[in-house]
Amino acid sequence: MIIAPSILSADFANLGRDIQTVVHAGAQWIHVDVMDGVFVPNITIGPLVVKAVRKVTTAFLDCHLMVVDPERYLDDFIRSGADGITVHVEATRHLQRALASIREKGLKSGVSLNPSTPLETIKYCLADIDLLLIMSVNPGFGGQAFIKAVFPKIQEAKTMIEGYPIQLQVDGGVSKDNIAKLAQMGVDNVVAGSSVFMTADPGKTIKEMFDLVSSSLR
Ligand code: DX5
Ligand code: ZN
Repeated sequence: MIIAPSILSADFANLGRDIQTVVHAGAQWIHVDVMDGVFVPNITIGPLVVKAVRKVTTAFLDCHLMVVDPERYLDDFIRSGADGITVHVEATRHLQRALASIREKGLKSGVSLNPSTPLETIKYCLADIDLLLIMSVNPGFGGQAFIKAVFPKIQEAKTMIEGYPIQLQVDGGVSKDNIAKLAQMGVDNVVAGSSVFMTADPGKTIKEMFDLVSSSLR
């Protein structure tokens, strides 16, 4: 399983240090939560921060765009050094075009669904998707509780993407309490923000999460 710590809960005054800590502990991806204050009720960071982060790590930079009409910003994120870009199905009028243009530039194309958005919305785009992100909270903030009704959706998503080379990612409320269950359900990739960076020793927490995953898969 890939663990992608979300820098939303990191210390922005010490971002480089926090990233080194989790990468050193084994985190393969760094998750960057981009919010525009329109699609979600919060404003966070943009391409400038991705560019700065790119300089301090070779880890996969996973940019989660919670932005209306994300097509407008794809090139900016690509130029900043993103490795993958995830757009929300609810935020774009031309999902297939957005996914195809991310891939055309050599990046991994991701699509995200809010908790209430049905899986059917991506049914005809499966061939264009590298990463399917199932939100387990309503996007906008870190530190929210995992919505349990999403468990059956994760199961249905697994079935839907069978046979496609699509990574299944879950984001929101992931912690040591549910990571083992997610691994057992076949989730390939989890985002974890507050449950990592809000602990006294984020590196130790990442290692404990990996241990929980490996014992659950034994
Ligand atoms: C929510 C973001 C998440 C968030 C996760 O809108 O997309 O990536 O940072 O934070 P936690 O792990 O604290 O729920
Ligand atoms: Zn996210």
